[in-house]
Amino acid sequence: MIISFEGGEGSGKSSVIKGALRLIQTHGMEVCVFREPGDTEIGEQIRNILHDHKNSNISLRTEALLYQAARSELVDKKIRPAIERGVTVLLDRFYDSSIVYQGMARGLGIEEILHLTRFATGGLDPDLTFYLDVDVQEGLRRIRENKREFNRMDAQPVEFYEKVREAYLNLCRENLGGRWVYINANQEFPNVMLDVTKELNERIFHEGAITRERGT
Ligand code: TMP
Repeated sequence: MIISFEGGEGSGKSSVIKGALRLIQTHGMEVCVFREPGDTEIGEQIRNILHDHKNSNISLRTEALLYQAARSELVDKKIRPAIERGVTVLLDRFYDSSIVYQGMARGLGIEEILHLTRFATGGLDPDLTFYLDVDVQEGLRRIRENKREFNRMDAQPVEFYEKVREAYLNLCRENLGGRWVYINANQEFPNVMLDVTKELNERIFHEGAITRERGT
């Protein structure tokens, strides 16, 4: 099973993924986490190119292809082997990031990105996708305060992040009831985690909803 986590800058994906990892482990399931771009030897080198401020003049198509190249490496070397061993895979971003950032916000086109994605992933899809929605200004404030690195993708004009958020909201709205789950990530972290836990309990562990009142 593949569970992906999507969201704009400062949406708190990493903390939520840590919480989800612990929850799934407590159910005795084997689970691992990968982040995009990166988490393979070649993927990390590609990540460095993509994040380097000196590459701010990179062509949009090159950017799109590099994300897909890092992705195919991750799928072939890590994700497929894990799935074949029956391990649950949590992904800090997957191809929806390319659809949103390159296809929609950069304007390269959804169909073009989907076409590249099919080649890069061999048609591998997430079973469940959490969209962590955060207000753009709040997200940028969080990364200014908390993020270890401030990379090229963090240095885009605010309008770009507004487009990213709009694109995610559209994608999420169109697919609600399917694999997408909307989470309000403007809330304090414990409440965000509670919402994610509730969805995981219902969808993965098939347990009834846990109420906020009980706080468990
Ligand atoms: P993050 O490690 O903080 O999530 O940053 C990754 C950055 O790369 C983020 O700005 C989103 C961007 N990105 C794309 O533009 N396209 C992609 O396909 C992926 C995976 C990430």
